[in-house]
Amino acid sequence: MSLPNLWSFHHILMLSAFTSTANGYYNYQWTQCIYSSSDFSDMVFLDGYYFNKYLYLQFNSTVGKFVGFTEFGVRYAEIWNKNPAILQHYRAEVDRFCKPNAVLYKKDIHDKAVAPVVKLSLVKQGDSRHPSLLMCSAYDFYPEKIKVSWLRDGVVVTSDVTSTEKMPNGDWYYQIHTELEYIPKAGEKISCMVEHAGFEKPMIYDWNPPLPEFEWNTPLLFTAGVAALMLGIIIAAAGFIYYKSK
Ligand SMILES: *[C@@H]1O[C@H](CO)[C@@H](O)[C@H](O)[C@H]1NC(C)=O
Repeated sequence: MSLPNLWSFHHILMLSAFTSTANGYYNYQWTQCIYSSSDFSDMVFLDGYYFNKYLYLQFNSTVGKFVGFTEFGVRYAEIWNKNPAILQHYRAEVDRFCKPNAVLYKKDIHDKAVAPVVKLSLVKQGDSRHPSLLMCSAYDFYPEKIKVSWLRDGVVVTSDVTSTEKMPNGDWYYQIHTELEYIPKAGEKISCMVEHAGFEKPMIYDWNPPLPEFEWNTPLLFTAGVAALMLGIIIAAAGFIYYKSK
């Protein structure tokens, strides 16, 4: 299964506020670990120093040193880049800080995927001229990322498909409903395909149309009546024979 596109976590180490009469001033340090691979091989450590919203000094592990963006920031970058102990500390942060935390995040959040319960239902019965409406519902899955598609004889359908948004249940789980409008064809197989991190592979659910409803009509009633009469005669005859033989 594909992983979510981008994982990033961060923490704010220092937050100080100097309040003046009108506004607050905020000087803070924002540390981020950014990665998209599950083995963390593309992990980047970023440490940014901000005044209000303005980034004035940053360490980027790909660059491997500090870069300043204001006069003050450039001065600091020069000083810290000359200090081997500081540089060594920051260059080791991917391995010391980012990766061990990412392992915990993966174990506690990402690996806790819960696969959806999938149900197919008929919303509207069609015929050779009027379209049928089928609904594929996926309930109680986590995380939110999911893909639901319709197949006609194994081929993905793109038109006449409408879907709701992924809806949070309010209990960490989500649900989604997708409808397919189609003119039924004899012998055709309609399926709903669901892809989710909780499944090992895409899951395919085939639609089993309900059997047409049984209806009594005149010839059928006549046949049933004749059969009942015959059965009555047989039972009566058997009874008569049994009585005579005693
Ligand atoms: C970190 O540095 C690399 C190399 O210059 C760059 O490609 C990347 O965009 C930088 N990351 C951020 C978030 O600035």
